[in-house]
Amino acid sequence: MTAEGIGTRFVGRERELDELTALLERAAGGRGRLVLVGGEPGIGKSRLASELSQIATERGASVLWGRGWEDAGAPPYWPWVQALRAYIRSTARYRRDTSSQSTWSRNLAT
Ligand SMILES: Nc1ncnc2c1ncn2[C@@H]1O[C@H](COP(=O)(O)OP(=O)(O)OP(=O)(O)O)[C@@H](O)[C@H]1O
Ligand SMILES: [Mg+2]
Repeated sequence: MTAEGIGTRFVGRERELDELTALLERAAGGRGRLVLVGGEPGIGKSRLASELSQIATERGASVLWGRGWEDAGAPPYWPWVQALRAYIRSTARYRRDTSSQSTWSRNLAT
C-alpha cells in the first residue's frame, strides 16, 4: 500500500494512535475489534491508519489494505477484494503452486 506521508513527522494524534495501539494489542490477544475512523477530507484518517499499520507490522502482524473508490464503476466489495487478494498472494501455498489453488482463490487473486 501507499503509506500516506510516512517518513514525514506525525503530529498531534498521540491519543488516537495510543488508543488504536491498545486495541491492536487486544486483537493480538484474541479480542479483535472493528474500528471506524471518521472525519473531514484531509483530516488525517489514512495517515493514522498508516501509522498504526507500521506499528502492527513491527509487532509481527499481517496488515491488509482495501481502499474504496469514490467514483462509479468499482467492482462489488472492492475494498474486501483488494484485502483478500493481498492475503492470498502473500500465502506460501499460492506462491509455491498457483495451479493447486481452488478456482475461487485463483480468480480472487487475479
Ligand atoms: N497527524 C499528522 N501529522 C502530520 N501529517 C499528517 C497528519 N495527519 C495527516 N497528515 C498529512 O496530511 C495529508 C492528508 O492526510 P490523509 O491523507 O491521511 O487524510 P484523509 O483524512 O485520509 O483524507 P481523505 O478523506 O481525502 O481520504 C497527508 O499528506 C498526511 O500525511
Ligand atoms: Mg484517506
